[in-house]
Amino acid sequence: MTPTHFQQQILTWFDAQGRKDLPWQQDITPYRVWLSEIMLQQTQVSTVIPYFNAFVDKFPSLDSLANATIDEVLPYWSGLGYYARARNLHKTAQFIYQQQRFPDTLAELIALAGIGQSTAGAILSIAFNKSHPILDGNVKRVLTRYKAIEGWTGDSQINKKLWAISTELTPIERCADYTQAMMDLGAILCTRSKPACADCPLTSHCLARINGTVALLPTPKPKKILPVKQVIFLLLSNDSQQIFLEKRPPTGIWGGLWSLPEFDSVESAHDWCLSKNMAIASQQLLPTSRHTFSHYHLDYTPLAIHTNSSTNFVMEANQSLWYNADHNVGLATPIKHLLQQYNSEN
Ligand code: ADE
Repeated sequence: MTPTHFQQQILTWFDAQGRKDLPWQQDITPYRVWLSEIMLQQTQVSTVIPYFNAFVDKFPSLDSLANATIDEVLPYWSGLGYYARARNLHKTAQFIYQQQRFPDTLAELIALAGIGQSTAGAILSIAFNKSHPILDGNVKRVLTRYKAIEGWTGDSQINKKLWAISTELTPIERCADYTQAMMDLGAILCTRSKPACADCPLTSHCLARINGTVALLPTPKPKKILPVKQVIFLLLSNDSQQIFLEKRPPTGIWGGLWSLPEFDSVESAHDWCLSKNMAIASQQLLPTSRHTFSHYHLDYTPLAIHTNSSTNFVMEANQSLWYNADHNVGLATPIKHLLQQYNSEN
């Protein structure tokens, strides 16, 4: 198929079957498109929809986001993961607000934190209707199958090849629809398992389909064994049914979110309580759970300690708090679940 024929097949399919009712497809503005593309990085559409709606309700414009504090923003990201995205979004909103102009060129967009070439291409095509290729996970899957490209797509040679194919196939006209169509095709038909090849507009030209290798492509990432980190999370409660929380440092995992004090042993948790004059009235080790990050497994064991001591010890301002369920603060998902479970059982 020529690129023109490919584009016609894709756009005809999009007109009949593509998604046109996603929240970020309504009232299209650069701000809304940018926000949606950041949320959709590594996160599925069905997960993003309620977060996107709540976020734009609270921060309807770039100005409102730029003028909020990061502590006001993080609760609206809590549960989406990859929190660096929220911090970059907020910083970038402040930068764009100062410039008084939304960047609309590839060079300007990729200079912003959290925006790579594919996200920039999606913003340029969807928000500004400028012809730019994209290469997100969905498009990689479609193209590796269409051209029967073997090898892990994270490999730089393979990636380069796929960018060249994506660039060659991207149309000048209707590039917003084309970009959305390619993402939709990957999400709806050309899925990783059980793809609906019979309904695909590319089926008779898809080399993987012709070769019978659809199920083998894209080639999976070579597996690496993740290291395990073991920690104790201190669930320190007081007589007012509050739990002690600390703010995590701005960088690293759960950066800037509220969490439980973390220790490498029960003894060091005890020492910490003693150093704060927290007499231990009762204690219980709870079952260990696992949370997996991209580069390691975190095995965490909650240590529930109750103290009757007065709990007004002095800490650095804004770095710790006594939490109850009424607080609306940005919590990492495993911590949120732990606190919910603890509250329902106590
Ligand atoms: N994934 C990334 N961007 C997307 C979009 N605009 N629509 C659907 N899925 C996406």
